[in-house]
Amino acid sequence: MKLNPLVSKLALYDIAGTPGVAADVSHINTRSEVTGYMGDDQLKQALEGSDVVIIPAGVPRKPGMTRDDLFNINAGIVKSLCSAIGKYCPNALVTVISNPVNSTVPIAAEVFKGLGVYDEKKLLGVTTLDVVRAKTFYAGKAKVNVAEVNVPVVGGHAGITILPLFSQASPRANLSDEDIKALTKRTQDGGTEVVEAKAGKGSATLSMAYAGAIFADACLKGLNGVPDVVECSFVQSTVTELPFFASKVRLGKNGVEEVLGLGLLSEFEQQGLEALKPELKSSIEKGIKFVHQS
Ligand code: NAD
Ligand code: LMR
Repeated sequence: MKLNPLVSKLALYDIAGTPGVAADVSHINTRSEVTGYMGDDQLKQALEGSDVVIIPAGVPRKPGMTRDDLFNINAGIVKSLCSAIGKYCPNALVTVISNPVNSTVPIAAEVFKGLGVYDEKKLLGVTTLDVVRAKTFYAGKAKVNVAEVNVPVVGGHAGITILPLFSQASPRANLSDEDIKALTKRTQDGGTEVVEAKAGKGSATLSMAYAGAIFADACLKGLNGVPDVVECSFVQSTVTELPFFASKVRLGKNGVEEVLGLGLLSEFEQQGLEALKPELKSSIEKGIKFVHQS
């Protein structure tokens, strides 16, 4: 975010270690002023005046864990950060990276509703890393220039809920059904591939920083009135019967200006869509229930 010319002030917040990170980042010779805030009593200062809040707080996976295994710790972290956002910068656009995204976005929505500040256009779950992976893996298999590749990824952000739509990929390539199946599986397991390779030292951080920066840049461009900014994101949705769903969204001055439909799906994708719904539904409900019970 320090490299982004649309950022004027960059406020960093963590429960520990922020002064060092802020000092380090602040030496980068780009426009934004950097400030670091640490601990609960500085959260208000960190948030006040924010137009965009990016939440990457929480614990990452270790090998053998699912994203849902992070729920017990991360749900409370997201809930408390969103309570503060609702109080100190209720009009900010909020992007949620913390896992399990399929539950943390509904948690954020419920917290904002409870505070009377919920705006569905300004709450976005970050699924850009799935798109980044789908583009990389597709380009490798289809032998096309990765810089030209586009692949929508819909559904959610965990295992089979991640549904890349390779039938809509461009540039088009003649891949076999087996290839598409393997690409789909690799995209769905992309996070796990990194978790296993890191062997206990966390999950994707560098590719996530890249994906998070792309997504935040798109949000900032939209807020600044740049036309035709479209990214995939996990948002409140009527695209399916589920209350939240990732699909392409058009970003604009108010955040999510339009949630775009799924387009034509292949039979394989249609099956994937039906298969993901029960898991995604239960993750959404788990998030909502958590806020009402706690
Ligand atoms: P990390 O451990 O490197 O960093 C997490 C940071 O959160 C730590 O610095 C920690 O101190 C901080 N933190 C903990 N409680 C906090 C609180 N209450 N307020 C503010 N900060 C707090 O972990 P990471 O690898 O950066 O992963 C963070 C989260 O992002 C994990 O839940 C991970 O699963 C998720 N993630 C999501 C995606 C995605 O595509 N959406 C990709 C990668 C990681
Ligand atoms: C990812 O997709 O890399 C993240 O959601 C982190 C994880 O746990 O896989």
